[in-house]
Amino acid sequence: MPSFAVTRRAFMREGGAAAGAVIGGAAGLSVEGEVMAQTPLEFRTRMTTTMSVNRRPMSISHEARVSLLDLLREHLQITGTKKGCNEGACGACTVLLDGERVNACMTLAVSCDGAEITTVEGLAGGDGVLHTVQQAFIDQDAFQCGYCTSGQVVSAVACIREGHAGSAAEIAEWMSGNICRCAAYPQIVAAVRQADRQRG
Ligand code: FES
Ligand code: FES
Repeated sequence: MPSFAVTRRAFMREGGAAAGAVIGGAAGLSVEGEVMAQTPLEFRTRMTTTMSVNRRPMSISHEARVSLLDLLREHLQITGTKKGCNEGACGACTVLLDGERVNACMTLAVSCDGAEITTVEGLAGGDGVLHTVQQAFIDQDAFQCGYCTSGQVVSAVACIREGHAGSAAEIAEWMSGNICRCAAYPQIVAAVRQADRQRG
């Protein structure tokens, strides 16, 4: 959406005074309203997506431009999945889409019609018993601030299922899409190894 990018850059260049003008200006548009006004109509069209989220079937009405991440967090208030970079670089938003790990920020919600989505909230059993990967992260102290953790855990579930947890080096390679700014990598690798061993 080039027009959106240009508008944001121009907005940042103008600084606080311009920000005030946009927010309280004659047009009366908030920044969000400004973005909306610049969004092509086809992306503002409302769609209905039917999907299963954590084993619960649902139909959600949303704008065509909405990402799976925003659908989960803003529309469904399922906020365990985190927004880090919002451009596919950090992995904080990792969810399972029909069992495959994806960056929810880079996935259009409408493309998930008929899909089964699993977020970190859907990993524990119905009885509340944690998934072996969740328990391993606790056992190995595999987090500090915790912001990346839900993405790491979901990614680790898929990493193990894919058979990519055979060694520390292999885990580091196949978990490399999940960034940890606290650098808890040794503990994360240990947690994945523990969960893989417990899986048998
Ligand atoms: S928030 Fe999606 S990859 Fe960073
Ligand atoms: S635990 Fe802080 S970013 Fe990973």
